[in-house]
Amino acid sequence: MKSKIWLMEGLSSQKDIIQGIKAFADQLKCRITVFASHRNERNEILSVADHSLIEPKDAEKRLEFILDTVALHGINAIHTGRNSLWFEENRAAIEASGATLTTGATGADWLTLSEEKVAFSQFMEQNSLPVVPSWRVTTLSELKDYLASPPFSDSPVCVKPVTGIYGIGFWRFDDTASSMALFNHPENRVVNSQQYLAAADASESFTPLVLMPYLPGPEYSVDILADKGEILAAVGRRKEGPVQYLEHEGEAFELACACARAMKADGLVNVQTRNNHHGKPVLLETNMRPSGGIGYTRHSGVNLPGLFAAYQLGLMSKNDVIENAKSSFSPAAVRSITDVILYPEQLTNRLN
Ligand SMILES: Nc1ncnc2c1ncn2[C@@H]1O[C@H](COP(=O)(O)OP(=O)(O)O)[C@@H](O)[C@H]1O
Ligand SMILES: [Mg+2]
Repeated sequence: MKSKIWLMEGLSSQKDIIQGIKAFADQLKCRITVFASHRNERNEILSVADHSLIEPKDAEKRLEFILDTVALHGINAIHTGRNSLWFEENRAAIEASGATLTTGATGADWLTLSEEKVAFSQFMEQNSLPVVPSWRVTTLSELKDYLASPPFSDSPVCVKPVTGIYGIGFWRFDDTASSMALFNHPENRVVNSQQYLAAADASESFTPLVLMPYLPGPEYSVDILADKGEILAAVGRRKEGPVQYLEHEGEAFELACACARAMKADGLVNVQTRNNHHGKPVLLETNMRPSGGIGYTRHSGVNLPGLFAAYQLGLMSKNDVIENAKSSFSPAAVRSITDVILYPEQLTNRLN
């Protein structure tokens, strides 16, 4: 009987995933042992697992560390939310250990595609899925030309880096914005184009950008459990100001699932959409990894991390997972808050 799952370092929700799995195992009355590891002493994450390990900082040592750990502790399933490209490159060697590997993707090419926003947008167009119209801007002079005469007339212009994360570098241009607006309210992400161009001019290098029409929203973030492109469970979050509404149907939800299918997603992934000015959802991006907000989705009754672990370990069949997600869902609204938790200075569950 398989029961040991290992969550290696993730980007932002490793703790919520561990707690989701533990709660699901309690609810199912089955034994799942959760191993967790991180390169840093993230004791607030590691302490909630059954066993914890510190990962080597050096990527050269990672494969040996994984193989030793699997052999020593009899790990059945490995999940990673970070360094996914490295994991894909080493998939055969890792799976030769007998453990399964989940990276969110079924190959390195899918990871690269999801990280390159213009290529992603073109791929979605080829698949006849609505996506935010995107122009690649590689030089400052191209940006100046686009801002002087945008390729669309019905929306304000915005940009973001071609490869990026956490919304860093996203800006909306508004030439009526005062020059102090971005200093006083950086969270609005609004900038006067002259100011942006002056800053870009003064910078030594130009980061390639995606130029897009600004979409009014609302925005949806859909967390999905997939098996090699087949959707098993999903929960959408419609973002309205500070409140997020949990959903499991609708046009944005269906579009996100179609996107994950086209990307051959595998494991826990996240697709984001936003409504255009016709009120129609279009794709913004997909991340082939669990989102930072995946833990919020448990308030819908659907435990995506738990379903993932149970499925990976063979404790639930594909149909069980699909049925469980369908029957457990009920709509809910959630609001994220800032909070503190106790940081255990010593780990009592550490194995290495
Ligand atoms: N065309 C757009 N119109 C309006 N808002 C956008 C647009 N593109 C991105 N955004 C906003 O910027 C955020 C970050 O963009 P996203 O494509 O998710 O990149 P990343 O999360 O990788 O930085 C989105 O969550 C959304 O709120
Ligand atoms: Mg995003």
